[in-house]
Order: sequence, then C-alpha cells, then structure tokens
Amino acid sequence: MASRMLKRAGISPELCEQLKRHKIESCKDLLTHTAFEVMYAAGLSYQKTLGILETVSKVIAPPLTTALELWKHYSDSCFSTSLPALDKVLRGGIPCGAITEVTGPFGCGKTQLCMMLSVVTTLPKELGGLDRSVIYIDTESAFSAERLVEIAQNRFPDYFSSQEKVLQMAGRVHIFREMTCQDVLCRLEKLEEILISTRAGLIILDSIASVVRKEFDTTLPGNLIHRSKLLGQQATTLKYLAHQFNIPVVLTNQITTQIGHQGSGPLTEGDSGIVTAALGNTWSHSVNTRFIVQYVDGLQRQLLVAKSPVAPFAVLNYTIQKEGICMNGNDGEETFYEGTDPSLQPIREVLVLRTSAVPTLAT
Ligand code: GTP
Ligand code: MG
Repeated sequence: MASRMLKRAGISPELCEQLKRHKIESCKDLLTHTAFEVMYAAGLSYQKTLGILETVSKVIAPPLTTALELWKHYSDSCFSTSLPALDKVLRGGIPCGAITEVTGPFGCGKTQLCMMLSVVTTLPKELGGLDRSVIYIDTESAFSAERLVEIAQNRFPDYFSSQEKVLQMAGRVHIFREMTCQDVLCRLEKLEEILISTRAGLIILDSIASVVRKEFDTTLPGNLIHRSKLLGQQATTLKYLAHQFNIPVVLTNQITTQIGHQGSGPLTEGDSGIVTAALGNTWSHSVNTRFIVQYVDGLQRQLLVAKSPVAPFAVLNYTIQKEGICMNGNDGEETFYEGTDPSLQPIREVLVLRTSAVPTLAT
C-alpha cells in the first residue's frame, strides 16, 4: 500500500532522512514525484534514482501467489477462537488477512467476544493461542481490564493460576481510546510500526459504528457521501494491515432499523421497520466475514455466521459466563442455517422482533 513509510520499503535510514527533509516520507510521496525531483531531493545519480523508484514500486505492488501456496499455509491463515463449534463452521477459525465484523444489539456480547479473543491471542501456541500481543482500539470506553482478567482466569484456570502469567497477558493487550472518526483513522494509519514493535497478532476495533454514527447525521445533505468516504478509508487501511501482517482484524458494529414498507409511497403507520446491521450496504461489502449476534431470551443468545467466503450460513447458541462466551449443544447438522441470507433477516433485539414504530432513516 502506497502509504507505507519508506523505511519499511527497503530504503536505507540515511536516504530516508535525506528525503524526509524534502517532505518525502511514504512510498506514495516518492512515487508522486518525477525521477528528476527525487534525484534532486536524494542527491543521487539518475541511474540510482531509477533503481530506488523501481524498488519502491515493487514493494507496494500486490504480490503474486498461487492457490497451491495458500493451500499449503492454510493452517496459518486461521485464528482459533477457543470455541470449537465456531472454529468448525469457519474451517479452522477467524480468517487472518481479512476483516471479521460482529454486529448485534447492545449488551449482546460483542465486547465480551473481543476481550475473550484478546486473551486467546496472548496464549502460548501449545494452548491454541498465537503467543502475540493485541491492538485494541476502544471507541466506546467499554474495555474493562478487570473483566479481561476474569475471563482469562476462568477460561484458562491452569495457565492463569500464576499471577505472573496474568500480568504478562494484561501487558500484551495494548489499548488505544479513540473517540472521533479522525482519531480512529489517524491511529489506523500509524499502526504499522506499532504492530511490528508489539508483535501484534490481532487488531480489534470496538466499535466502528459508534464514532461514525455520532458524527454523521445521514439525514443531512452530503453527510452520507462523507461517511462512506471515511468508512472506505478505514476499511482500506484495515485490509492492508490485515493482509500485510497476515493477522485477523475483528471489529464490532451496531444495528439499525431500516424501512421495510412496500411500494414507493409515503410511510404509513402500518409500515414496519427491519433491524439489520448498521452502516449500510457499501460497508457490508467491505467486511469479509460477518457474525450477527442476537438475543433468544434473557440468557440464551445466538451467533449467526451471516457472511463468510468459506462457510455456509450457520447458527450457534451461546451464553455469556464468567469465562466469556460459552457455546453449548452446537454439534451436528442443526448448526447450519436453513433459509435465506441471515444478514437480510431482522436481528432479534430483546423482546422486539419487528418494530412497528416509524423507523429512523439512519443506516
Ligand atoms: P454494546 O457495546 O452496548 O453494543 O454491547 P455489547 O454487545 O458489546 O455487549 P457486551 O459485550 O458489553 O456484553 C454485556 C453483557 O455481557 C451484559 O449485559 C451481561 O449480560 C454480560 N456480562 C458481562 N459480564 C458478565 C459476567 O461477568 N458474567 C456474566 N454471566 N455475564 C456478563
Ligand atoms: Mg460493546
């Protein structure tokens, strides 16, 4: 990706410093100058300048691979969630190098899942973890260190029986609190070096929707376009990071009520709204895998695999316990979802299946 810094593109530190004096810091900065401009800024011969331009162009060009290569390294491309039933449906776990979204009503367990995955990422490989750290971008001030530790100690009691292991785990979850769209985007654009220095194996963004929906009132003219542009930039950066470091990106989304009335006439009292994932269709295309979480009753909840390039639609029951998300009784054929695309189905909020109130236009 063109925003990669030159020092990450095989250019010597001295030359990077020299170019920086001319405000050339990223691959994009370099490639948007002519060879003569670069030659002048770098103080190099024309031949050497062409060599540098070629090196940088090759670094940012998408690498060519084969299906055979991908197949050989398939086990490296999945992150086991510690939930066997979900891993089975996903053929190994959450995909690395791609974006996975968890969407659903408030209080349904999205943040709990994110915290649980954070613990799993830090575990040693022999216990099913990645032995890596976590970058956790919290836009809702919802992250709780106490709850993280509680999940760790209750889910993996033997491993976390020692205080030292608990401290190590908590020290490997790096939290960034970003409260505006611009802050989130800036953080994502600067994440590359942090990912390297922390040896991160998972990026979490909890949630993508809250800041975006707070700042963009899509009923006002022009806001929808601005919001789509910003979400597009965030998705591109996240995809680049996921792909470049071959790690999973997990983000959470909210729900919205979409107009479900027939025909093109004005809304009437009889028109119903359908609860679906927020942020609209274009955003839905940006995520590679989508889980929908929804309520069954006060205790039982469901996780629907609503979009996946490798798995059929599936429904898994879970509860939230001291040890985080627990899935029981999900073995066998009954896990597969019968019907149409679950992402087109209304999401079940507590006690409300379909709203009859006049819905909001926001998506
Ligand atoms: P929003 O961020 O508001 O959209 O919600 P969310 O989907 O992220 O919900 P979150 O993951 O924060 O889940 C909150 C719910 O988890 C609470 O309503 C509780 O039902 C449950 N929960 C949290 N901690 C515990 C716990 O220690 N034990 C149990 N059994 N449940 C818990
Ligand atoms: Mg949450």
